[in-house]
Amino acid sequence: MRRLLRLLGLLLLLAIALAAAVLGVVWVLGPPTYEQYSPEAFTLERKGDAEAGKRLVTMLCVRCHYDPQSNTLAGRALAPAFDRYGQVHAANLTQDDVRGIAHWTDADRVMLLRSGVHPQRHELMPPYMPWLPGIADTDLADLLAYLRGDDPWVQPSRKADPPTQLSFEAIVRSWTIWEPGPQRASTLPRPDDAEPIALGAYLANDLLQCHGCHSASLDRVDWLYPSHSEGFYAGGTVLRDLAGHPIVGPGLTAREDGGLGAWSFEEFRRALVEGEGPQGEVLRWPMPRYGALTEAELTALYAYLRTLPPATTAPKRPAPYKVVTDVVDPGRHQFERLGCPSCHGAKAQGFLSLDDAPTRFPTDPQLAAYISDPAFVDEHAWMPAYGHLLDDAQMADLCEYVRRLAEHGPHAAPPK
Ligand code: HEC
Ligand code: HEC
Ligand code: HEC
Repeated sequence: MRRLLRLLGLLLLLAIALAAAVLGVVWVLGPPTYEQYSPEAFTLERKGDAEAGKRLVTMLCVRCHYDPQSNTLAGRALAPAFDRYGQVHAANLTQDDVRGIAHWTDADRVMLLRSGVHPQRHELMPPYMPWLPGIADTDLADLLAYLRGDDPWVQPSRKADPPTQLSFEAIVRSWTIWEPGPQRASTLPRPDDAEPIALGAYLANDLLQCHGCHSASLDRVDWLYPSHSEGFYAGGTVLRDLAGHPIVGPGLTAREDGGLGAWSFEEFRRALVEGEGPQGEVLRWPMPRYGALTEAELTALYAYLRTLPPATTAPKRPAPYKVVTDVVDPGRHQFERLGCPSCHGAKAQGFLSLDDAPTRFPTDPQLAAYISDPAFVDEHAWMPAYGHLLDDAQMADLCEYVRRLAEHGPHAAPPK
């Protein structure tokens, strides 16, 4: 017996030493490379339309690559949202020939966007940078045309983004569970408006990848065969917002609780376009606003999601933020209720700082106009509009709080 135990102990030690050695080697090697992938396999013949491409970029890329300082897609740090995967910096996508991607051929771009494999580093992008194996040729060509077009967002910016430093966890996952898309330049054509269910499936799974955030686990999403994703549309994956708060992707199957079973089309449309849930709650980052979708596309998405069989379990609801009551601090109450911290952080400092807001908007009507509809004040602003969620008194409280944040930081006492 003693001898057996000793033998087992020895084996255990050996196993631990071996595991440590393997992990050490993985750490030194970094993520796997896919040398067999080459841009030649990804040539796309079609010419696209830059205007249509901008619409796609606002729905798919801006949320990470937009840099408010230069007002271009020059990229930025995404901490703390993706800290699990390392120090993650969205890259500079402008037409700068050194810091941007001017030197990338179209085939390079298609390779990254279709397969997830970086054309120079030959490494697979972790799922913080979406890749779209199923995007239709027409949509992909529009995207490429936009990146080469004359929109101010893609004009050269010299901003340098430090390369992303992957965490150990991300490296292990790239060896074990993440796989690139196939070497394929083309896919099926985009379904048209006359086939709503097929169009809805294409939009949800292949183009906008709603399943990425609305299934059971972001790590176990199947980007190539979306319906093979773990807990497909059952919800439950834990994401993080730009303040580092955990936020759960809700389920979108036909369940009544923890799904869209009880949602009317009007409620669905409002959630996607205006960012407001059925109880008037504001949907927080990273849930995108899809104001650019057409009525036919919204109808198709709704029709498709309603065909999903109800998930067997309801995911945990996303934990609501702790919101200060409006008796304690009416301005901060609005700021927190509306989910401003999901992008600006609880302190509104650091990357999306509000420190310059009082200089840029010296009067309250100017500040209120901006918060009501940033894109109306600044054509290229990307921040969502909030005017429809605030009455005049609430807006005045919010403006006061933004000024207070800029001047005294978050710990200043509310005005008497
Ligand atoms: C969720 C955040 C996120 C979204 C959304 C996103 N990206 Fe990225 N992207 C990144 C990050 C982070 C990197 C840097 C990865 C690295 O360095 O490993 C990156 C890198 C890239 C690169 C490589 C640039 C280089 O110089 O290496 C290209 C090209 C790119 N993204 C294009 C796009 C396009 C086009 C879209 C929209 C279809 C998009 N990205 C959407 C996060 C994102
Ligand atoms: C990058 C991640 C992400 C993507 C992509 C995404 N969502 Fe969401 N979505 C979320 C998160 C997180 C929430 C919860 C927001 C909150 O609670 O404040 C949410 C909330 C919702 C809600 C409200 C559900 C509820 O029960 O309150 C609906 C409806 C929704 N999303 C639909 C969609 C559709 C349709 C798509 C694709 C067109 C999509 N989402 C794409 C992350 C995402
Ligand atoms: C989805 C992310 C997001 C959310 C949520 C958000 N913002 Fe913003 N905000 C931005 C971005 C990005 C900018 C930089 C300008 C731009 O491109 O839109 C910005 C800019 C601003 C500015 C102008 C700052 C300046 O110096 O020019 C103000 C003021 C502001 N936000 C207030 C708010 C308030 C108040 C809320 C909540 C009601 C809010 N934001 C919610 C993303 C967001």
